Amino acid sequence: MADDRTDNRSEIRESFFAKQQMIDSAKTAFQLLSAVMKNVTVYPGSHPFLLTSADRLRVKIEEMLSDRKEVAFYLAGGELFFEKVSVPVDQSISLLIEQLAARDVGGVIFRPGLTSQELVRLADLMNSEAIDLTDRGGIHDVISKEGITHIELLRALLVDKQVASTIKAGAKKASEIFKDAIETVKEMVKSVDMDKMSNLRKANAIVQTLVDGMLDNRDALLGLTNLKMYDEYTFAHSVNTSILMVALGSYLSLEKTQIAALGMAGLMHDLGKTTVPHEIINKPGKLTDEEWDEVKRHPVEGALLLADIPGVSKLAMVAAFEHHQHGGYPKVDGVPQQHLFSQIVAIADAYEALTAARVYYSVQMPADQAIRILIKKRGSVFNAVLVKAFVNMIGMFPVGTVLKLDTGEVGLVTHQTRDLMRPRVLLLSKLDGSEKESGAEVSLLETAGGSFKRTAVGTINPYAAKINIKQYLT
Ligand SMILES: [Fe+2]
Ligand SMILES: [Fe+2]
Repeated sequence: MADDRTDNRSEIRESFFAKQQMIDSAKTAFQLLSAVMKNVTVYPGSHPFLLTSADRLRVKIEEMLSDRKEVAFYLAGGELFFEKVSVPVDQSISLLIEQLAARDVGGVIFRPGLTSQELVRLADLMNSEAIDLTDRGGIHDVISKEGITHIELLRALLVDKQVASTIKAGAKKASEIFKDAIETVKEMVKSVDMDKMSNLRKANAIVQTLVDGMLDNRDALLGLTNLKMYDEYTFAHSVNTSILMVALGSYLSLEKTQIAALGMAGLMHDLGKTTVPHEIINKPGKLTDEEWDEVKRHPVEGALLLADIPGVSKLAMVAAFEHHQHGGYPKVDGVPQQHLFSQIVAIADAYEALTAARVYYSVQMPADQAIRILIKKRGSVFNAVLVKAFVNMIGMFPVGTVLKLDTGEVGLVTHQTRDLMRPRVLLLSKLDGSEKESGAEVSLLETAGGSFKRTAVGTINPYAAKINIKQYLT
């Protein structure tokens, strides 16, 4: 039994590393492609600089082809996907995505037999004026005429549909991960004194799944943190905080073991609340000074509980102890300090708590307002660099936010793009109810005649507007 479990865990870990490696390769390949595209505009066709950069790209693709039949990249909504996994984009990649999208390219597939010459010719074509290509029958015709046979280009529209369905499939898996996580935290809390080891093992497995799921589809998992459960606040809060921390860790490209430790710290940071009377935790209205003192014990109690569970990472303990240090409790000698992990918990915890739908709050704070509060407190309460990264990751309008658009339409955010203010949205209806759900997914980056087709002008509380976002996110 024990061996089976170890096997299972090492399998999860291996697949995690393999996936991370695959994402790194995909990113490198696209960066090399962007270098070839740039070099072709600077050097003549036979220049060694140009040929060397094309060779490098060819070698990278050949390496990727060693365990797959083709190397396929997809572009949708300003993002890059390799196979079904989202690849983090930097500036050079994001420029290339724009360049390709302007030529109606939604995907590039490389096949065995690829030559460096084909790559140079492709780069050359991609740099021609978009209008020229249309005259010559569109890029897809042009490349076959040019004798490029080991590269296939996909049209943008088709790819968008394909990626949209992948995102949906990913979301389904994410909702299962979320449910499992809630159940595990609940059990963990209920049986702190009993079967600690087996629950710890489960918690570890959940965190691995969270980390893994995050690489598969960060947006899908982040979207689920919007499903606030009124009655299970502490559990949902712990899982949400953990998801946000794992997401930030992967966004910051921390090491995988560190990301997993972060996830664990998030899951466990409020464990001490189980020692505070239920009536106080769920009290609607203001707490008395005595009740507040009770609540303030939870960081110390949490660290003590975690110290008692063998195998819990010291970092989870430190994070539980320090996560309210910026708020001044518990009191410590000397200047209070926070470990990097505790600083990350502090941000994720504050954002989660601000946007939470609690029993005693009738109105949930919109995400953009919560983000503005974090921004205001950066440098004083929260680590400024971490706040910046957090905001960049989550966008001003996180996945799951319902937006009012200047067209009178209502859109549910499904995906971030490179522009914090212009995510991809699923169109739901017209504000006045004159149109039923249209179900079309559009990017707020789309332009017509030089200006944006749609712009967000505000957010809508889905609960007040009776929009069941759960049906779209799960
Ligand atoms: Fe807390
Ligand atoms: Fe918390």
